[in-house]
Amino acid sequence: EDFTPFRNEPFTDFTTAENKNAMQEALGVARSALGQSYDLYIGGRPERTAKKFHSVNPARPAEIVGTHFEAGPEEAQAAIDAAQLAFATWKHTTVSDRAGLLLKAASMIRERHLDFCAWLTLEVGKNFAEADADVGECIDFLEFYAREALKLDAATTPIQFPGERNLLRYVPLGVGAVIPPWNFPFAIMAGMTCAAIVTGNTVVLKPSPDAPTIAARFVELMIEAGLPDGVINLVQGGPDVGRAITENAAIRFIAFTGSKKVGLEIHANAAKTLPGQRFIRRTILELGGKDAIIVEADCDIDAAVEGVATSAFGFNGQKCSACSRVIVEDSIYDVFCDRLAARVSKFEVGDPAENVYLGPVINEVAKKRVLDYIEIGKTEGRLIAGGNAIDKEGGYYLEPTIFADIAPTSRIAQEEVFGPLLAVIRSKGFDDALAIANDTEYGLTGALYTNSREKLARARDEFHVGNLYFNRKCTGAMVGAHPFGGFNLSGTDSKAGGPDYLLLFTQAKSVAEKI
Ligand code: NAD
Ligand code: ALA
Repeated sequence: EDFTPFRNEPFTDFTTAENKNAMQEALGVARSALGQSYDLYIGGRPERTAKKFHSVNPARPAEIVGTHFEAGPEEAQAAIDAAQLAFATWKHTTVSDRAGLLLKAASMIRERHLDFCAWLTLEVGKNFAEADADVGECIDFLEFYAREALKLDAATTPIQFPGERNLLRYVPLGVGAVIPPWNFPFAIMAGMTCAAIVTGNTVVLKPSPDAPTIAARFVELMIEAGLPDGVINLVQGGPDVGRAITENAAIRFIAFTGSKKVGLEIHANAAKTLPGQRFIRRTILELGGKDAIIVEADCDIDAAVEGVATSAFGFNGQKCSACSRVIVEDSIYDVFCDRLAARVSKFEVGDPAENVYLGPVINEVAKKRVLDYIEIGKTEGRLIAGGNAIDKEGGYYLEPTIFADIAPTSRIAQEEVFGPLLAVIRSKGFDDALAIANDTEYGLTGALYTNSREKLARARDEFHVGNLYFNRKCTGAMVGAHPFGGFNLSGTDSKAGGPDYLLLFTQAKSVAEKI
């Protein structure tokens, strides 16, 4: 077991021929396994159903990445039963054994780092650096939560009452549903799952149907690492099986990351007490964003252009943290728009397996959604970059698109597009900029570019987001350094990768003994 202080997994430098070649080799190996079938895992047993579905490569949708089996209500119930059975013993294992399992899995993932990167490239269209960041964050979550679980286990009451021995123990909740999104299909999926199990819970994991292969390969790795039967039960499928799991009287908590719409539905249903339910179901919800970057006239404009371009278009804006509104001070507005449009038009769009910066969006529905928003944008503002789909091997490609002169209350300034579309909004000054930034139902990330200490201080108090960044991009939160989670309808501010996260998966038991 490794109890060295936590440190973030270093990024891989793909500018070296050695690393680039190694990644290409890993892609070749993954390609030779494309289309393979993956089982569900219920109580440690591999299972199949009569209903197959496929995940496809968004860069070449004719290419099947993985073949999976859709779970129905029966499999959902069997998975919950298996998790309940396993809970009876798993909750009594020591925290150090559970932490040891996470550390072992982390080291196995580290050894197969580029293999997982390759699957991310093929299944969700991440370029090398984006795939590397997802795998690195996954390792970080496992390493971080292993150490945090040990810390939590050493908790004490703030004082000892005279004449008593007082204990405070963070005990597990029970059986949880873990429902991740497709966009960080490794880090978020494994992070939520491992936070739950390291604290002694057992789970039913239902990955996104757009990224089932990464999750199946992760569960297989956990089994190889020594995961006991029934601690993680894997069921695959979409909203129907998601509902079958979350709306069950035996589910004690739901860890969900995804859209506002689904998150709020889960939250509302979780508030209903089902027949036979003996607890209040807890929800841990991480939802969407409409993240803003404020650019003040007194900043380094080139740095702001670069930060906004990367935040808005990295992984095609398919991050909850992505910048989708840039609020620019009047006196530099025209210059900023020109430089930003010029910078963004240099982004290449193409196959992420060739490490092109911008790959496809995840699927046909996403492509159509962005194209619909582009039409809305044309009625709401002035198109200054992009605006079209790109036809390449049937892949779901879009040009990075920017609309200027957008009113703060317009639809593309208020609704999460979750694609390569950015709205530029003009501000009359810092007060106006802050008011515009905060005028949203979301509150996940935000950034401010300025050289004024006074404005930074005001933003610290007044810019109402869970993750605020100064003079840097608003994406790329690092585990431990930037505990991640949002305000308002962006979620329950459950800070993944932070010191409070594991508390959400436990309940505190206070024990007093007279001495
Ligand atoms: P989504 O809400 O469509 O799906 C998320 C998961 O919920 C999937 O596994 C899906 O199959 C499942 N699901 C769908 N309907 C369900 C239902 N009725 N009951 C139970 N489960 C159901 O989201 P997505 O498209 O996978 O991900 C994109 C969204 O996730 C964006 O809104 C993005 O901002 C958000 N996101 C948030 C964070 C964060 O940390 N705040 C991180 C990543 C993504
Ligand atoms: N944690 C991811 C980021 O910060 C979503 O970009």
